[in-house]
Amino acid sequence: MQPAAARAVVRRARDQDLDRLVELFAEVAAEGRWIGAELPLDRERRRRHFSEAMYDERAVLLVAEVDGRIVGQLDMELARYGVADLGMLVAPGWRGQGLGTALLRAGIDWARGAGAHKVALQVWPHNQAAIALYEKLGFQREGLLRRHYRRRNGELWDAVVMGLLL
Ligand SMILES: CC(C)(COP(=O)(O)OP(=O)(O)OC[C@H]1O[C@@H](n2cnc3c(N)ncnc32)[C@H](O)[C@@H]1OP(=O)(O)O)[C@@H](O)C(=O)NCCC(=O)NCCS
Repeated sequence: MQPAAARAVVRRARDQDLDRLVELFAEVAAEGRWIGAELPLDRERRRRHFSEAMYDERAVLLVAEVDGRIVGQLDMELARYGVADLGMLVAPGWRGQGLGTALLRAGIDWARGAGAHKVALQVWPHNQAAIALYEKLGFQREGLLRRHYRRRNGELWDAVVMGLLL
Protein backbone atom coordinates (compact mmCIF):
# COMPACT_ATOMS: atom_id res chain seq x y z
CA MET A 1 0.00 0.00 0.00
CA GLN A 2 1.15 3.57 -0.69
CA PRO A 3 2.38 5.64 2.29
CA ALA A 4 -0.32 7.64 4.07
CA ALA A 5 0.79 11.03 2.72
CA ALA A 6 0.42 9.83 -0.87
CA ARG A 7 -3.15 8.69 -0.13
CA ALA A 8 -4.06 11.76 1.90
CA VAL A 9 -6.39 14.51 0.88
CA VAL A 10 -5.87 17.84 2.61
CA ARG A 11 -9.03 19.93 2.48
CA ARG A 12 -11.06 22.44 4.43
CA ALA A 13 -13.17 21.04 7.26
CA ARG A 14 -16.95 20.85 6.86
CA ASP A 15 -19.81 20.79 9.38
CA GLN A 16 -20.12 17.01 9.17
CA ASP A 17 -16.47 16.69 10.29
CA LEU A 18 -17.08 18.37 13.66
CA ASP A 19 -17.74 15.23 15.73
CA ARG A 20 -14.65 13.50 14.41
CA LEU A 21 -12.53 16.64 14.89
CA VAL A 22 -13.50 16.93 18.55
CA GLU A 23 -12.86 13.19 19.04
CA LEU A 24 -9.44 13.45 17.41
CA PHE A 25 -8.55 16.50 19.50
CA ALA A 26 -9.61 14.66 22.69
CA GLU A 27 -7.51 11.65 21.67
CA VAL A 28 -4.37 13.80 21.41
CA ALA A 29 -5.21 15.77 24.57
CA ALA A 30 -5.48 12.40 26.36
CA GLU A 31 -1.83 11.72 25.55
CA GLY A 32 -1.11 14.57 27.94
CA ARG A 33 2.22 15.69 26.53
CA TRP A 34 1.96 17.19 23.07
CA ILE A 35 -0.74 19.88 22.96
CA GLY A 36 -1.79 22.54 25.44
CA ALA A 37 -5.25 21.11 26.06
CA GLU A 38 -5.65 18.47 28.75
CA LEU A 39 -8.47 16.19 29.82
CA PRO A 40 -11.21 16.61 30.79
CA LEU A 41 -11.82 18.49 27.59
CA ASP A 42 -14.62 21.05 27.32
CA ARG A 43 -15.97 19.41 24.15
CA GLU A 44 -18.68 22.00 23.52
CA ARG A 45 -16.19 24.84 23.69
CA ARG A 46 -13.79 23.03 21.34
CA ARG A 47 -16.61 22.28 18.92
CA ARG A 48 -17.60 25.95 18.90
CA HIS A 49 -13.99 26.96 18.29
CA PHE A 50 -13.72 24.60 15.30
CA SER A 51 -17.10 25.67 13.98
CA GLU A 52 -16.17 29.36 14.17
CA ALA A 53 -12.86 28.69 12.41
CA MET A 54 -14.81 27.19 9.47
CA TYR A 55 -16.84 30.32 8.90
CA ASP A 56 -14.35 33.04 9.83
CA GLU A 57 -12.60 34.42 6.77
CA ARG A 58 -9.58 35.28 8.95
CA ALA A 59 -9.21 31.64 10.00
CA VAL A 60 -8.82 28.25 8.42
CA LEU A 61 -9.44 24.69 9.58
CA LEU A 62 -7.85 22.02 7.41
CA VAL A 63 -8.12 18.27 7.72
CA ALA A 64 -5.96 15.43 6.43
CA GLU A 65 -8.15 12.55 5.33
CA VAL A 66 -6.82 9.10 4.50
CA ASP A 67 -9.15 6.50 2.98
CA GLY A 68 -12.14 8.59 4.07
CA ARG A 69 -11.04 9.01 7.70
CA ILE A 70 -9.84 12.28 9.23
CA VAL A 71 -6.50 11.61 10.90
CA GLY A 72 -5.00 15.10 11.10
CA GLN A 73 -6.02 18.68 11.55
CA LEU A 74 -4.52 22.18 11.35
CA ASP A 75 -6.05 25.46 12.35
CA MET A 76 -4.82 29.00 11.91
CA GLU A 77 -6.18 32.34 12.90
CA LEU A 78 -4.91 35.54 11.34
CA ALA A 79 -4.52 38.38 13.84
CA ARG A 80 -5.22 41.97 12.76
CA TYR A 81 -1.49 42.70 12.94
CA GLY A 82 -0.73 40.10 10.25
CA VAL A 83 0.44 37.04 12.18
CA ALA A 84 -1.26 33.67 11.63
CA ASP A 85 -1.29 31.55 14.81
CA LEU A 86 -0.96 27.85 14.19
CA GLY A 87 -2.17 24.70 15.93
CA MET A 88 -2.03 21.19 14.46
CA LEU A 89 -2.06 17.52 15.24
CA VAL A 90 -1.98 14.08 13.65
CA ALA A 91 -3.65 11.04 15.25
CA PRO A 92 -1.43 8.63 17.14
CA GLY A 93 -0.74 5.72 14.79
CA TRP A 94 -0.61 8.03 11.76
CA ARG A 95 2.46 10.08 12.65
CA GLY A 96 5.77 10.02 10.82
CA GLN A 97 4.14 9.35 7.46
CA GLY A 98 4.25 12.83 5.97
CA LEU A 99 0.75 13.98 6.96
CA GLY A 100 2.02 16.77 9.20
CA THR A 101 4.20 18.03 6.37
CA ALA A 102 1.27 18.02 3.93
CA LEU A 103 -1.00 19.85 6.38
CA LEU A 104 1.61 22.44 7.26
CA ARG A 105 2.48 23.19 3.65
CA ALA A 106 -1.21 23.77 2.93
CA GLY A 107 -1.55 25.93 6.05
CA ILE A 108 1.40 28.10 5.04
CA ASP A 109 -0.12 28.52 1.57
CA TRP A 110 -3.37 29.65 3.17
CA ALA A 111 -1.55 32.15 5.42
CA ARG A 112 0.27 33.61 2.42
CA GLY A 113 -2.96 33.90 0.46
CA ALA A 114 -4.70 35.52 3.42
CA GLY A 115 -2.04 38.24 3.51
CA ALA A 116 -0.18 37.16 6.64
CA HIS A 117 3.44 38.26 6.93
CA LYS A 118 4.25 35.59 9.49
CA VAL A 119 3.15 32.26 10.94
CA ALA A 120 3.72 31.81 14.69
CA LEU A 121 3.31 29.01 17.19
CA GLN A 122 4.35 27.69 20.56
CA VAL A 123 5.60 24.16 21.19
CA TRP A 124 6.76 22.22 24.25
CA PRO A 125 10.57 21.88 24.28
CA HIS A 126 10.28 18.07 24.55
CA ASN A 127 8.17 17.84 21.37
CA GLN A 128 11.05 16.84 19.10
CA ALA A 129 8.87 15.63 16.24
CA ALA A 130 6.93 18.89 16.03
CA ILE A 131 10.05 21.06 16.31
CA ALA A 132 11.74 19.00 13.56
CA LEU A 133 8.69 19.44 11.31
CA TYR A 134 8.58 23.20 11.88
CA GLU A 135 12.32 23.60 11.29
CA LYS A 136 12.10 21.48 8.13
CA LEU A 137 9.62 24.00 6.73
CA GLY A 138 11.75 27.00 7.70
CA PHE A 139 10.44 28.05 11.12
CA GLN A 140 12.99 29.51 13.49
CA ARG A 141 13.17 29.40 17.26
CA GLU A 142 12.53 32.91 18.51
CA GLY A 143 12.52 32.43 22.24
CA LEU A 144 11.57 30.48 25.29
CA LEU A 145 8.71 31.19 27.69
CA ARG A 146 10.00 29.96 31.03
CA ARG A 147 7.73 28.06 33.41
CA HIS A 148 4.89 29.74 31.56
CA TYR A 149 2.07 27.19 31.43
CA ARG A 150 0.59 25.57 34.53
CA ARG A 151 -0.48 22.00 33.85
CA ARG A 152 -3.35 20.38 35.69
CA ASN A 153 -0.90 18.42 37.83
CA GLY A 154 0.63 21.70 38.98
CA GLU A 155 3.82 21.46 36.88
CA LEU A 156 5.01 24.64 35.16
CA TRP A 157 6.14 23.96 31.58
CA ASP A 158 8.37 26.04 29.31
CA ALA A 159 7.28 26.73 25.74
CA VAL A 160 9.42 27.42 22.67
CA VAL A 161 8.19 30.31 20.52
CA MET A 162 8.71 29.68 16.79
CA GLY A 163 7.99 31.75 13.73
CA LEU A 164 8.13 31.67 9.95
CA LEU A 165 8.44 34.98 8.11
CA LEU A 166 6.62 34.74 4.81
C1 LIG B 1 3.94 17.10 15.28
C2 LIG B 1 3.11 16.29 14.30
C3 LIG B 1 1.91 17.11 13.87
C4 LIG B 1 3.97 15.95 13.08
O1 LIG B 1 3.15 15.28 12.15
P1 LIG B 1 3.69 14.00 11.35
O2 LIG B 1 2.64 13.58 10.40
O3 LIG B 1 4.19 13.01 12.32
O4 LIG B 1 4.92 14.69 10.57
P2 LIG B 1 5.67 14.15 9.27
O5 LIG B 1 5.52 12.68 9.15
O6 LIG B 1 5.24 14.99 8.12
O7 LIG B 1 7.17 14.47 9.65
C5 LIG B 1 7.67 15.75 9.48
C6 LIG B 1 9.10 15.84 9.96
O8 LIG B 1 9.11 15.79 11.36
C7 LIG B 1 10.27 15.07 11.77
N1 LIG B 1 9.82 13.98 12.58
C8 LIG B 1 8.68 13.24 12.43
N2 LIG B 1 8.59 12.36 13.44
C9 LIG B 1 9.65 12.54 14.21
C10 LIG B 1 10.10 11.97 15.43
N3 LIG B 1 9.39 10.99 16.03
N4 LIG B 1 11.25 12.44 15.98
C11 LIG B 1 11.94 13.43 15.39
N5 LIG B 1 11.56 14.02 14.24
C12 LIG B 1 10.44 13.58 13.67
C13 LIG B 1 11.04 14.70 10.55
O9 LIG B 1 11.95 15.75 10.30
C14 LIG B 1 9.98 14.70 9.50
O10 LIG B 1 10.44 15.06 8.25
P3 LIG B 1 11.05 13.93 7.24
O11 LIG B 1 10.16 12.76 7.32
O12 LIG B 1 11.04 14.62 5.92
O13 LIG B 1 12.40 13.68 7.79
C15 LIG B 1 2.66 14.94 14.95
O14 LIG B 1 3.79 14.29 15.45
C16 LIG B 1 1.65 15.12 16.08
O15 LIG B 1 0.46 15.26 15.83
N6 LIG B 1 2.10 15.12 17.35
C17 LIG B 1 1.16 15.27 18.47
C18 LIG B 1 0.46 16.62 18.47
C19 LIG B 1 1.46 17.74 18.38
O16 LIG B 1 2.57 17.65 18.87
N7 LIG B 1 1.05 18.84 17.74
C20 LIG B 1 1.90 20.02 17.59
C21 LIG B 1 1.85 20.82 18.85
S1 LIG B 1 2.90 22.26 18.77
